[in-house]
Amino acid sequence: MITLVANLKGGTGKSTVAFNLALWLMKRDDKVAVCDLDPQATLRDAIELREEEGIAPSLKVIDELPQRTTGEIIVDVGTSNMIGVHEAIRRAQQIIVPVAPSQADVWATQRFIELVKEHAGRRIPRMRAFVNRADPHPRSRENREAVEVLTALPHIEVLSARLTQRLVFRRSFSEGLAVFELERSGKGAAELDKLGREVYQA
Ligand SMILES: Nc1ncnc2c1ncn2[C@@H]1O[C@H](COP(=O)(O)OP(=O)(O)OP(=O)(O)O)[C@@H](O)[C@H]1O
Ligand SMILES: [Mg+2]
Repeated sequence: MITLVANLKGGTGKSTVAFNLALWLMKRDDKVAVCDLDPQATLRDAIELREEEGIAPSLKVIDELPQRTTGEIIVDVGTSNMIGVHEAIRRAQQIIVPVAPSQADVWATQRFIELVKEHAGRRIPRMRAFVNRADPHPRSRENREAVEVLTALPHIEVLSARLTQRLVFRRSFSEGLAVFELERSGKGAAELDKLGREVYQA
């Protein structure tokens, strides 16, 4: 299955989420490849860092989406490659949209839904949003309002999983390690596990 992690807004955590979800799937023994269509290639950099450090398992990177897919493919793409965004929308079976709890992010999500409708062809892929970089405060108004507005949007479901703004997610990407490899029983690992289960219905 092709899972696209995307949003029109930059810095919402697309690459961090794609990287961690791919390693989460590998932990489950799934066959996984990641496709980095972003010219910034940050996802590829994190995977290369992993290789250089000799960290196992290594993640397979592919340059383009294959005509036939076996196993799981996670695609990371941003607005600097709109042709890639359009192709990935056409090919994806599901789209996961990380949204930071801010008005600008929610607006960008609304526009992204329009873009998906425009480029998806006959069947709109299943679209699900979740709050990333969530305010750590348990009763945060920003988190609550983001969920409320996302819930009201058409064509997109809101996952109950969320990833809080945590140092472990930042370290994860910069060190080439999944959050559960950095802190096996940490809160970040538990949040990723919940997200992975919801996304892949495990
Ligand atoms: N849950 C989180 N907690 C803390 N930091 C996070 C979290 N998610 C992402 N980040 C940090 O936010 C920054 C942006 O993340 P990332 O590069 O994954 O976003 P992106 O959407 O891929 O960005 P771009 O649009 O530039 O491709 C990075 O510094 C990353 O470490
Ligand atoms: Mg990115």
